[in-house]
Amino acid sequence: MISLSTKYLGMSLNSPLIVSSSGLTNSVDKIKKFEELGAGAVVLKSLFEEQINYEAGALVENGLSPEAHDYITRYSKADALESYLKIIEGAKKVTKIPVIASINCMSVNEWISFATDIEQAGADALELNVFFIASGVGQASEKYEERYNELLVKIKKVTKMPIAVKIGYFFTNLVNIVNNLYVRGANGVVLFNRFYEPDIDIEKMEITSSGVFSTPADIRNSLRWVGIISDKVSKIDIAASTGVHDGKAAIKQILAGANAVQVCSVLYEKGNDQIRIMNSEIENWMQKKGYDTIDQFRGKLNYKNITNPSVYERSQFMKYFSAYQ
Ligand SMILES: Cc1cc2nc3c(=O)[nH]c(=O)nc-3n(C[C@H](O)[C@H](O)[C@H](O)COP(=O)(O)O)c2cc1C
Repeated sequence: MISLSTKYLGMSLNSPLIVSSSGLTNSVDKIKKFEELGAGAVVLKSLFEEQINYEAGALVENGLSPEAHDYITRYSKADALESYLKIIEGAKKVTKIPVIASINCMSVNEWISFATDIEQAGADALELNVFFIASGVGQASEKYEERYNELLVKIKKVTKMPIAVKIGYFFTNLVNIVNNLYVRGANGVVLFNRFYEPDIDIEKMEITSSGVFSTPADIRNSLRWVGIISDKVSKIDIAASTGVHDGKAAIKQILAGANAVQVCSVLYEKGNDQIRIMNSEIENWMQKKGYDTIDQFRGKLNYKNITNPSVYERSQFMKYFSAYQ
């Protein structure tokens, strides 16, 4: 009997497929549907610090007294948080799958207290969606890196929920970054977030944004780091994210050492039923290979378990592409 169950952040998931943080999970009905389709867990759309500040700011633009300004700012923030908590409470009433909340935080201030509200609403875990563009002349990279640690430590003080930190890959030494998060109490990391990237429209002469969705080829960077980190920081859980568009890609990430796999673009592009299809692709492959459980092949091809681990570190085309002169 094949079982797709896996452990992530100390929770038991019926499937390694997690629906990523995005508008896909912004209502109780949508979350319920994902459970029916066989998702192992869902991550809610991030509660964005800057978005709520903007919403409050837009309401108070014109000439209010300081008291009214203060009142409306607080009210608007409370309102945004309230709607978020309602989704958590509602989803916990009608589903059994873990509901992971997400906060996008830039600063270490009042946001920290939202973690407590989220925990009380019944969220099973919290994903911290953190990213700072490091572009300050004269600012050492450690300054930016320290902010991730600082945020995590502050959040850990106010909640007992398991925490995953969702990061990008723009670091010189990712292994050390993830290890620093692990020693400060992170239960997991999500490798990696995908960000808006700028493009330029040369006719209109303006900056635009590039495509929002990933392609299947985008899996490779994440695959490299899942393979390395699942060995070098072996106690932290890993959810692989970016470029997972089918069951095969999910299997690759698990072979590289991921505990779970997050999916987003493919659901927007091909529909939510992909969850069901991907689960059966994984199951069929397991049957063909003679595996009954995910743990039997998780990490089988990670850095530690292959004869030549340097393939994960290879970055130059020197030998392999010599056919292309
Ligand atoms: C429309 C859209 C909205 C997203 N919103 C969020 C968000 O609120 N918080 C977050 O951490 N990631 C967000 N993401 C990133 C996804 O969760 C995911 O990490 C990224 O798309 C890479 O996975 P994929 O290749 O499966 O799409 C969003 C992605 C898309 C396409």
